[in-house]
Amino acid sequence: MGAHIIDGKAIAGSVRAEWKLRAENLVKQGITPGLAVIIVGDDPASSIYVRNKVKACNEIGIYSEVHRFSGDALQEDVLLCIQKLNENVQIHGILVQLPLPPHFDNNAVITSITTQKDVDGFHLYNLGALVTGNAIFLPCTPYGVMVMLEKNNILIEGQHAVVVGRSNIVGKPMAFMLLQRGATMTICTSKTRDLAAFTRSADILVVAVGKPKMIQAEMVKPGATVIDVGINRLPDGKLCGDVDFDSVSQVAGYITPVPGGVGPMTITMLLCNTITAAERVQAHTSQV
Ligand code: GUN
Repeated sequence: MGAHIIDGKAIAGSVRAEWKLRAENLVKQGITPGLAVIIVGDDPASSIYVRNKVKACNEIGIYSEVHRFSGDALQEDVLLCIQKLNENVQIHGILVQLPLPPHFDNNAVITSITTQKDVDGFHLYNLGALVTGNAIFLPCTPYGVMVMLEKNNILIEGQHAVVVGRSNIVGKPMAFMLLQRGATMTICTSKTRDLAAFTRSADILVVAVGKPKMIQAEMVKPGATVIDVGINRLPDGKLCGDVDFDSVSQVAGYITPVPGGVGPMTITMLLCNTITAAERVQAHTSQV
């Protein structure tokens, strides 16, 4: 029997429709949610991500502005820009597109964003808040995965969840979000000895390592939920995930495809975080 395919595009569409109403509600109260995106250098993938983020903001009713710096820009100029955006009342969310050029100190830049506008959830304080169960903003990709699990009524509490991947953007925050919801967590890496022994015991398997089709059917427990965060380009130009979709979909209970799975959720959750940031400002101003 084939797995149920979790349609990220459809879920992203329904989440955006729901949150568009919340954005419209804010506009009626005189607050237009605003997002500032900072991009340094001319990495082609980053340029596409930023373009997609701006387009998505327009569609949902979020004001957005892009601050571009050349690849040889000084870090202090970027910090100055962030400082101004921290103080700008029209901006509710600030995002620094990664990667930054090698002469930048990522943590110095990201921690200069005020925690209340850190809609990527990458600030060290916000990551600490997440770890202690007090998240302010959830990092967008793992947040999107949680929404996909929720929309499919997938049980988390008491289940064994295995995350393969330890990045600060996906693997680590993903593990803490699942832990917060009562899963028993295992974090593996692409180098884990006898990885299959771990993945085969997973009720929920999340893979985010960037290795095309690394997870094969025999590594998956029958009926498991398999979430593929990988996006890899094959030599023939086609996209594929870290999971071998064709074989694993014969074994899993639920599976996300690539493309059309987790991908569409990431920008969606950025929009949600930006609207949430604006709602908090609105709630605060209506109290005083
Ligand atoms: N680069 C790759 N993914 C992301 C992301 O989610 N946010 C930012 N800011 N940069 C990225």
